[in-house]
Amino acid sequence: MKALITSAGRGTRLRPITHTQNKHLIPVANKPMLHYAIESVREAGITEIGIVVPTDSDEVPNAVGDGAAWGAKITYIKQEEPLGLAHVVKISQQFVGDETFLFYLGDNIVLGGVKRFVEAFDRSGCNCLLTLAKVNDPQRFGVPVLEGNRIVAVEEKPKVPKSSYAVAGIYVYDSHIFEAVNEIKPSARGELEISDAHQYLIDHGRSVEHCELTGWWKDTGKPADLLEANRLVLESLTSRIVGRIDRSSALEGSVVIEEGSSIVNSKIRGPVVIGEQCVVENSYIGPFTSIGPGTVVRDSEVEYSIVMRDCQIINVGSRIERSLLGNDVQIYSASGKPRVHRFMIGDQGRIDVA
Ligand code: G1P
Repeated sequence: MKALITSAGRGTRLRPITHTQNKHLIPVANKPMLHYAIESVREAGITEIGIVVPTDSDEVPNAVGDGAAWGAKITYIKQEEPLGLAHVVKISQQFVGDETFLFYLGDNIVLGGVKRFVEAFDRSGCNCLLTLAKVNDPQRFGVPVLEGNRIVAVEEKPKVPKSSYAVAGIYVYDSHIFEAVNEIKPSARGELEISDAHQYLIDHGRSVEHCELTGWWKDTGKPADLLEANRLVLESLTSRIVGRIDRSSALEGSVVIEEGSSIVNSKIRGPVVIGEQCVVENSYIGPFTSIGPGTVVRDSEVEYSIVMRDCQIINVGSRIERSLLGNDVQIYSASGKPRVHRFMIGDQGRIDVA
Protein backbone atom coordinates (compact mmCIF):
# COMPACT_ATOMS: atom_id res chain seq x y z
CA MET A 1 0.00 0.00 0.00
CA LYS A 2 1.10 3.56 -0.73
CA ALA A 3 0.03 6.84 0.89
CA LEU A 4 -0.98 10.14 -0.62
CA ILE A 5 -0.92 13.25 1.59
CA THR A 6 -2.29 16.65 0.59
CA SER A 7 -0.47 19.87 1.35
CA ALA A 8 -1.54 21.96 -1.61
CA GLY A 9 -4.53 23.83 -0.10
CA ARG A 10 -4.06 27.59 0.16
CA GLY A 11 -5.30 27.97 3.76
CA THR A 12 -7.20 31.18 3.02
CA ARG A 13 -9.06 31.00 6.33
CA LEU A 14 -5.77 31.15 8.22
CA ARG A 15 -4.53 34.39 6.70
CA PRO A 16 -2.38 36.33 7.43
CA ILE A 17 -0.34 33.37 8.80
CA THR A 18 -0.70 31.58 5.46
CA HIS A 19 0.46 34.58 3.39
CA THR A 20 4.02 33.55 4.20
CA GLN A 21 3.76 29.92 5.25
CA ASN A 22 2.07 26.79 3.94
CA LYS A 23 -0.85 25.90 6.22
CA HIS A 24 0.41 22.33 6.57
CA LEU A 25 3.68 23.53 8.08
CA ILE A 26 2.02 25.53 10.85
CA PRO A 27 3.27 24.09 14.13
CA VAL A 28 0.88 22.28 16.45
CA ALA A 29 2.56 21.67 19.82
CA ASN A 30 5.74 22.95 18.12
CA LYS A 31 5.65 20.30 15.35
CA PRO A 32 4.57 21.03 11.76
CA MET A 33 1.05 19.73 11.15
CA LEU A 34 2.26 17.66 8.20
CA HIS A 35 4.65 15.68 10.41
CA TYR A 36 1.69 14.16 12.25
CA ALA A 37 0.36 12.81 8.95
CA ILE A 38 3.74 11.39 7.92
CA GLU A 39 4.24 9.77 11.33
CA SER A 40 0.77 8.17 11.23
CA VAL A 41 1.37 6.81 7.75
CA ARG A 42 4.72 5.31 8.77
CA GLU A 43 3.21 3.83 11.88
CA ALA A 44 0.67 2.08 9.61
CA GLY A 45 3.65 0.41 7.91
CA ILE A 46 3.60 2.46 4.68
CA THR A 47 6.94 3.66 3.32
CA GLU A 48 6.09 5.01 -0.15
CA ILE A 49 4.49 8.41 0.30
CA GLY A 50 3.35 10.94 -2.29
CA ILE A 51 2.87 14.52 -1.04
CA VAL A 52 0.85 16.84 -3.25
CA VAL A 53 2.27 20.38 -3.22
CA PRO A 54 1.45 23.65 -5.01
CA THR A 55 3.57 24.30 -8.14
CA ASP A 56 4.50 27.83 -7.07
CA SER A 57 6.40 26.92 -3.88
CA ASP A 58 9.15 24.56 -2.71
CA GLU A 59 8.40 25.28 0.92
CA VAL A 60 7.08 21.81 1.75
CA PRO A 61 9.83 19.83 -0.06
CA ASN A 62 12.45 22.08 1.57
CA ALA A 63 10.98 21.57 5.04
CA VAL A 64 10.15 17.87 4.80
CA GLY A 65 12.89 16.47 2.55
CA ASP A 66 13.06 13.05 0.92
CA GLY A 67 11.50 11.12 3.82
CA ALA A 68 14.74 9.53 5.05
CA ALA A 69 14.13 11.10 8.48
CA TRP A 70 11.09 8.81 8.80
CA GLY A 71 12.52 5.80 6.96
CA ALA A 72 10.22 6.60 4.04
CA LYS A 73 10.53 7.54 0.37
CA ILE A 74 8.66 10.75 -0.41
CA THR A 75 7.70 11.72 -3.97
CA TYR A 76 6.38 15.25 -4.56
CA ILE A 77 3.45 15.66 -6.92
CA LYS A 78 2.70 19.17 -8.16
CA GLN A 79 -0.83 20.54 -8.36
CA GLU A 80 -1.05 23.64 -10.53
CA GLU A 81 -4.30 24.95 -9.10
CA PRO A 82 -6.41 23.94 -6.10
CA LEU A 83 -9.11 22.23 -8.14
CA GLY A 84 -10.45 19.92 -5.44
CA LEU A 85 -9.53 16.76 -3.58
CA ALA A 86 -10.72 14.44 -6.35
CA HIS A 87 -8.37 16.39 -8.65
CA VAL A 88 -5.53 15.67 -6.21
CA VAL A 89 -6.29 11.95 -6.56
CA LYS A 90 -6.58 12.27 -10.35
CA ILE A 91 -3.13 13.84 -10.82
CA SER A 92 -1.59 11.20 -8.53
CA GLN A 93 -2.66 8.19 -10.59
CA GLN A 94 0.80 7.64 -12.04
CA PHE A 95 2.41 7.72 -8.59
CA VAL A 96 -0.14 5.29 -7.12
CA GLY A 97 -0.15 2.86 -10.08
CA ASP A 98 -2.21 -0.29 -9.42
CA GLU A 99 -1.70 -0.32 -5.67
CA THR A 100 -4.19 0.33 -2.90
CA PHE A 101 -3.56 3.59 -1.09
CA LEU A 102 -4.29 5.67 1.97
CA PHE A 103 -5.39 9.23 1.19
CA TYR A 104 -4.63 11.56 4.09
CA LEU A 105 -5.59 15.23 4.17
CA GLY A 106 -2.56 16.97 5.64
CA ASP A 107 -4.68 19.41 7.64
CA ASN A 108 -6.31 16.63 9.66
CA ILE A 109 -4.65 15.42 12.85
CA VAL A 110 -5.68 12.02 14.18
CA LEU A 111 -4.61 10.85 17.60
CA GLY A 112 -4.25 7.09 17.88
CA GLY A 113 -2.99 6.70 14.32
CA VAL A 114 -4.52 5.28 11.14
CA LYS A 115 -3.22 1.71 11.22
CA ARG A 116 -6.60 0.32 12.29
CA PHE A 117 -8.24 1.81 9.17
CA VAL A 118 -5.68 0.23 6.86
CA GLU A 119 -6.24 -3.11 8.64
CA ALA A 120 -10.04 -2.76 8.42
CA PHE A 121 -9.75 -2.05 4.67
CA ASP A 122 -7.52 -5.10 4.12
CA ARG A 123 -9.82 -7.32 6.18
CA SER A 124 -13.03 -6.25 4.44
CA GLY A 125 -11.74 -6.41 0.86
CA CYS A 126 -13.88 -3.32 0.04
CA ASN A 127 -13.16 -0.80 -2.72
CA CYS A 128 -13.21 2.26 -0.46
CA LEU A 129 -13.09 2.82 3.27
CA LEU A 130 -14.25 6.14 4.73
CA THR A 131 -13.64 7.31 8.28
CA LEU A 132 -16.54 8.99 10.04
CA ALA A 133 -16.42 11.32 13.03
CA LYS A 134 -19.36 12.67 15.04
CA VAL A 135 -19.35 16.47 14.86
CA ASN A 136 -21.54 19.39 15.92
CA ASP A 137 -21.36 21.14 12.55
CA PRO A 138 -21.66 18.51 9.79
CA GLN A 139 -22.66 21.16 7.24
CA ARG A 140 -18.94 22.12 7.07
CA PHE A 141 -17.96 18.66 5.78
CA GLY A 142 -18.75 15.72 3.54
CA VAL A 143 -21.71 14.03 5.25
CA PRO A 144 -22.75 10.36 4.85
CA VAL A 145 -26.37 9.34 4.49
CA LEU A 146 -26.70 6.13 6.50
CA GLU A 147 -29.27 3.33 6.26
CA GLY A 148 -28.60 1.16 9.25
CA ASN A 149 -24.86 0.69 9.13
CA ARG A 150 -24.61 1.20 5.35
CA ILE A 151 -23.55 4.41 3.56
CA VAL A 152 -26.09 4.97 0.77
CA ALA A 153 -24.96 8.48 -0.22
CA VAL A 154 -22.38 11.15 0.57
CA GLU A 155 -23.25 14.84 0.35
CA GLU A 156 -20.66 17.64 0.30
CA LYS A 157 -21.38 20.47 2.75
CA PRO A 158 -25.17 19.97 2.74
CA LYS A 159 -27.31 22.81 4.14
CA VAL A 160 -29.47 20.23 5.90
CA PRO A 161 -27.18 17.33 6.92
CA LYS A 162 -28.81 13.90 6.98
CA SER A 163 -26.56 12.59 9.76
CA SER A 164 -24.41 14.00 12.53
CA TYR A 165 -21.24 12.49 11.04
CA ALA A 166 -18.52 14.10 8.98
CA VAL A 167 -16.42 12.14 6.53
CA ALA A 168 -12.98 12.77 8.01
CA GLY A 169 -9.90 13.37 5.91
CA ILE A 170 -8.56 9.79 6.02
CA TYR A 171 -9.63 7.46 3.18
CA VAL A 172 -8.42 4.08 1.91
CA TYR A 173 -8.98 3.12 -1.75
CA ASP A 174 -8.30 0.56 -4.40
CA SER A 175 -7.83 1.65 -8.01
CA HIS A 176 -11.60 1.98 -8.72
CA ILE A 177 -11.33 5.49 -7.29
CA PHE A 178 -9.47 6.55 -10.47
CA GLU A 179 -12.45 5.66 -12.64
CA ALA A 180 -14.57 7.85 -10.31
CA VAL A 181 -12.27 10.90 -10.29
CA ASN A 182 -11.90 10.72 -14.07
CA GLU A 183 -15.67 10.57 -14.67
CA ILE A 184 -17.11 13.16 -12.27
CA LYS A 185 -17.63 16.80 -13.26
CA PRO A 186 -16.68 19.95 -11.28
CA SER A 187 -19.17 21.15 -8.65
CA ALA A 188 -20.80 24.58 -8.50
CA ARG A 189 -17.65 25.95 -6.79
CA GLY A 190 -15.56 24.66 -9.70
CA GLU A 191 -13.85 21.81 -7.84
CA LEU A 192 -13.74 18.06 -8.34
CA GLU A 193 -15.29 17.04 -5.02
CA ILE A 194 -14.08 13.93 -3.24
CA SER A 195 -17.66 13.37 -2.02
CA ASP A 196 -18.83 13.19 -5.66
CA ALA A 197 -16.21 10.52 -6.31
CA HIS A 198 -17.53 8.55 -3.33
CA GLN A 199 -21.08 8.95 -4.63
CA TYR A 200 -19.89 7.67 -8.02
CA LEU A 201 -18.48 4.53 -6.38
CA ILE A 202 -21.77 3.92 -4.55
CA ASP A 203 -23.82 4.52 -7.74
CA HIS A 204 -21.65 2.05 -9.65
CA GLY A 205 -22.06 -0.75 -7.15
CA ARG A 206 -18.61 -0.53 -5.55
CA SER A 207 -18.35 -1.42 -1.87
CA VAL A 208 -17.91 1.67 0.32
CA GLU A 209 -17.33 0.72 3.94
CA HIS A 210 -16.66 2.91 6.94
CA CYS A 211 -15.02 3.03 10.36
CA GLU A 212 -15.76 5.44 13.12
CA LEU A 213 -12.89 7.57 14.36
CA THR A 214 -12.78 6.74 18.04
CA GLY A 215 -9.82 9.00 18.77
CA TRP A 216 -10.28 12.57 17.67
CA TRP A 217 -9.63 14.57 14.60
CA LYS A 218 -9.78 18.18 13.54
CA ASP A 219 -9.98 19.89 10.25
CA THR A 220 -7.71 22.74 11.21
CA GLY A 221 -9.28 25.21 8.79
CA LYS A 222 -9.90 28.11 11.15
CA PRO A 223 -7.79 29.75 13.89
CA ALA A 224 -10.07 28.44 16.66
CA ASP A 225 -9.67 24.88 15.30
CA LEU A 226 -5.91 25.26 15.28
CA LEU A 227 -5.85 26.34 18.94
CA GLU A 228 -8.14 23.41 19.73
CA ALA A 229 -5.84 20.97 17.88
CA ASN A 230 -2.92 22.43 19.83
CA ARG A 231 -4.84 21.87 23.06
CA LEU A 232 -5.70 18.27 22.20
CA VAL A 233 -2.15 17.34 21.23
CA LEU A 234 -0.74 19.06 24.34
CA GLU A 235 -3.19 17.16 26.52
CA SER A 236 -1.11 14.01 26.09
CA LEU A 237 2.22 15.77 26.56
CA THR A 238 4.91 14.04 28.63
CA SER A 239 7.17 16.34 30.64
CA ARG A 240 10.76 16.76 29.52
CA ILE A 241 13.02 19.44 30.90
CA VAL A 242 16.33 20.01 29.12
CA GLY A 243 16.61 23.80 29.44
CA ARG A 244 17.44 25.71 32.63
CA ILE A 245 14.98 26.77 35.30
CA ASP A 246 16.06 29.09 38.08
CA ARG A 247 15.07 28.66 41.75
CA SER A 248 12.47 31.39 41.72
CA SER A 249 10.47 29.76 38.92
CA ALA A 250 7.67 27.22 39.36
CA LEU A 251 6.44 24.53 36.98
CA GLU A 252 3.06 22.77 37.23
CA GLY A 253 1.60 19.95 35.14
CA SER A 254 3.23 18.59 31.96
CA VAL A 255 5.88 20.91 30.64
CA VAL A 256 8.53 20.52 27.93
CA ILE A 257 11.47 22.92 27.97
CA GLU A 258 13.90 22.29 25.13
CA GLU A 259 17.67 22.70 24.92
CA GLY A 260 19.19 26.13 25.42
CA SER A 261 16.07 27.74 26.90
CA SER A 262 15.95 29.46 30.25
CA ILE A 263 13.08 30.15 32.60
CA VAL A 264 13.74 32.94 35.06
CA ASN A 265 11.45 34.03 37.90
CA SER A 266 8.39 32.74 36.02
CA LYS A 267 5.42 30.42 36.43
CA ILE A 268 4.72 27.78 33.78
CA ARG A 269 1.41 25.95 34.17
CA GLY A 270 1.25 23.01 31.75
CA PRO A 271 0.55 21.53 29.44
CA VAL A 272 3.04 23.85 27.81
CA VAL A 273 5.84 23.27 25.33
CA ILE A 274 8.71 25.74 25.03
CA GLY A 275 11.09 25.26 22.08
CA GLU A 276 14.87 25.64 21.92
CA GLN A 277 16.74 28.85 22.76
CA CYS A 278 13.79 30.67 24.38
CA VAL A 279 13.89 33.07 27.31
CA VAL A 280 10.92 33.37 29.66
CA GLU A 281 11.52 35.95 32.36
CA ASN A 282 9.22 37.47 35.03
CA SER A 283 6.31 35.94 33.15
CA TYR A 284 3.43 33.47 33.28
CA ILE A 285 2.81 30.85 30.59
CA GLY A 286 -0.58 29.19 31.02
CA PRO A 287 -2.13 25.89 29.90
CA PHE A 288 -2.33 24.81 26.25
CA THR A 289 0.39 27.10 25.00
CA SER A 290 3.23 26.31 22.65
CA ILE A 291 6.15 28.69 22.32
CA GLY A 292 8.32 28.31 19.22
CA PRO A 293 12.15 28.30 19.27
CA GLY A 294 14.07 31.55 19.73
CA THR A 295 11.16 33.36 21.39
CA VAL A 296 11.51 35.80 24.29
CA VAL A 297 8.66 36.41 26.76
CA ARG A 298 9.49 39.03 29.36
CA ASP A 299 7.21 40.67 31.97
CA SER A 300 4.15 39.24 30.20
CA GLU A 301 1.46 36.53 30.41
CA VAL A 302 0.46 34.11 27.65
CA GLU A 303 -2.17 31.36 27.79
CA TYR A 304 -4.01 29.04 25.33
CA SER A 305 -1.98 30.29 22.39
CA ILE A 306 0.37 29.26 19.60
CA VAL A 307 3.46 31.43 19.42
CA MET A 308 5.76 30.51 16.52
CA ARG A 309 9.51 31.01 16.28
CA ASP A 310 11.62 34.10 17.10
CA CYS A 311 8.81 36.17 18.62
CA GLN A 312 9.29 38.84 21.27
CA ILE A 313 6.57 39.54 23.81
CA ILE A 314 7.87 42.20 26.15
CA ASN A 315 6.14 44.01 28.99
CA VAL A 316 2.61 43.55 27.65
CA GLY A 317 0.11 44.86 30.21
CA SER A 318 -2.70 42.33 29.86
CA ARG A 319 -2.68 38.56 29.35
CA ILE A 320 -2.39 37.32 25.77
CA GLU A 321 -4.97 34.57 25.27
CA ARG A 322 -6.47 32.52 22.38
CA SER A 323 -3.88 34.02 20.06
CA LEU A 324 -1.91 32.83 17.06
CA LEU A 325 1.40 34.62 16.53
CA GLY A 326 3.35 33.89 13.35
CA ASN A 327 7.15 33.85 13.05
CA ASP A 328 9.18 36.85 14.17
CA VAL A 329 6.25 38.77 15.66
CA GLN A 330 7.08 41.54 18.15
CA ILE A 331 4.68 42.83 20.78
CA TYR A 332 5.99 45.53 23.13
CA SER A 333 4.29 47.94 25.45
CA ALA A 334 4.48 51.44 23.99
CA SER A 335 6.19 53.68 26.55
CA GLY A 336 5.69 57.40 27.21
CA LYS A 337 2.68 59.68 26.84
CA PRO A 338 0.06 59.74 25.49
CA ARG A 339 -0.87 56.09 26.22
CA VAL A 340 -1.47 54.65 22.78
CA HIS A 341 -1.69 51.43 20.79
CA ARG A 342 0.80 51.51 17.96
CA PHE A 343 0.49 48.84 15.22
CA MET A 344 2.35 47.59 12.22
CA ILE A 345 0.18 44.76 10.88
CA GLY A 346 0.33 42.96 7.54
CA ASP A 347 -2.63 42.29 5.26
CA GLN A 348 -5.56 40.53 6.90
CA GLY A 349 -4.09 40.82 10.42
CA ARG A 350 -6.54 40.49 13.32
CA ILE A 351 -6.22 42.31 16.65
CA ASP A 352 -8.61 42.49 19.62
CA VAL A 353 -7.75 45.22 22.12
CA ALA A 354 -9.19 45.43 25.66
C1 G1P B 1 -12.76 18.40 2.65
C2 G1P B 1 -13.77 17.47 1.96
C3 G1P B 1 -14.85 17.05 2.96
C4 G1P B 1 -14.23 16.44 4.20
C5 G1P B 1 -13.16 17.40 4.81
C6 G1P B 1 -12.39 16.69 5.92
O1 G1P B 1 -13.37 19.61 2.96
O2 G1P B 1 -14.30 18.12 0.83
O3 G1P B 1 -15.70 16.12 2.34
O4 G1P B 1 -15.24 16.19 5.15
O5 G1P B 1 -12.22 17.79 3.81
O6 G1P B 1 -11.35 17.49 6.42
P1 G1P B 1 -12.55 21.01 3.00
O7 G1P B 1 -11.61 20.91 4.15
O8 G1P B 1 -11.84 21.11 1.70
O9 G1P B 1 -13.59 22.08 3.18
